[in-house]
Amino acid sequence: MTPPQDEVLTIETLPVEACDDGTVVALVTINRPNKLNALNANVTSAMKAMVAWAESEDAVRCIVVTGAQPLIPEEGKRVKPNAFVAGADITEFLGAGSEEITFKFTDNAIEALWNISKPTIAMVDGFALGGGLEVACSCDIRIASSRSKFGTPEINLGLIPGYGGTQRLVSLLGYGKALEMVYTGEMITADEAHRIGLVNHVVDADELKQRTMDMACLIASKSSNTLRVAKETMRSALDEGLTEGVATEAKAFAGLFDTEDKEIGVKAFLNREKAEWKHK
Ligand code: COA
Repeated sequence: MTPPQDEVLTIETLPVEACDDGTVVALVTINRPNKLNALNANVTSAMKAMVAWAESEDAVRCIVVTGAQPLIPEEGKRVKPNAFVAGADITEFLGAGSEEITFKFTDNAIEALWNISKPTIAMVDGFALGGGLEVACSCDIRIASSRSKFGTPEINLGLIPGYGGTQRLVSLLGYGKALEMVYTGEMITADEAHRIGLVNHVVDADELKQRTMDMACLIASKSSNTLRVAKETMRSALDEGLTEGVATEAKAFAGLFDTEDKEIGVKAFLNREKAEWKHK
């Protein structure tokens, strides 16, 4: 399994100890630390290729997305701050009109990440701003270091979020809090992000990778088919009303009773054994 590699987006495949069948977690690093990992056209195109690859590789059971750490600066220069992603690359906005932007933002990489059928985790250490926050919100789970900062500063550019942020923030935070972030463009701390439900966990920076990988490996050790059905079913709660959603769940739940992994899981429990999933 050779992941696509790009200067601006590196992919490592990390084995999952609990599984002896080649299961891996894909650790995806957005790699433009001198520009605080801002999303330019190269990053978004590499991200789309990554999504296609991760979707097609059976062994990839969970995807962790992060930003590269700051580089050691040249002599006399300051260290750049830690960043997950400090937004879309603003230099690409100057002079751009609606036609160009519609082309760029339709069917974009962040939507591709959102639509991937496998579990995704954003591992945030530093600024997650604008498009960077939208990348994080396109992942299923967010784990942040305590020094991270979150915000939607687009208002200061005369803009609003354009990678689905207006919609996904409302579903994560509720209408009032999401509008406050978008209206003010102010940054919030990791603790505040945790308090309002924007991130699942806040941990010390030096524990961030271990804690994230522990969760990724735990998730990756489950039946990939059941995970896929869980994601698809719970995603429907965002688009469907309660009655329709409960009906969707009933169908998905019943469908799992015809799978090999349900029999394996139930037998393993009853025999006090570890389930050896078929992922079917
Ligand atoms: N697009 C392009 N370049 C960006 C960027 C972005 N979104 N965010 C940061 N950078 C670049 C800076 O231009 C700078 O490049 P340089 O060193 O070659 O001049 C480098 O990253 C470091 O950023 P800098 O602004 O010098 O760091 P700072 O510590 O002073 O401030 C931030 C950090 C995050 C507060 C500041 O970079 C910022 O406000 N970034 C833009 C955030 C934003 O509006 N995002 C939404 C875009 S839609």
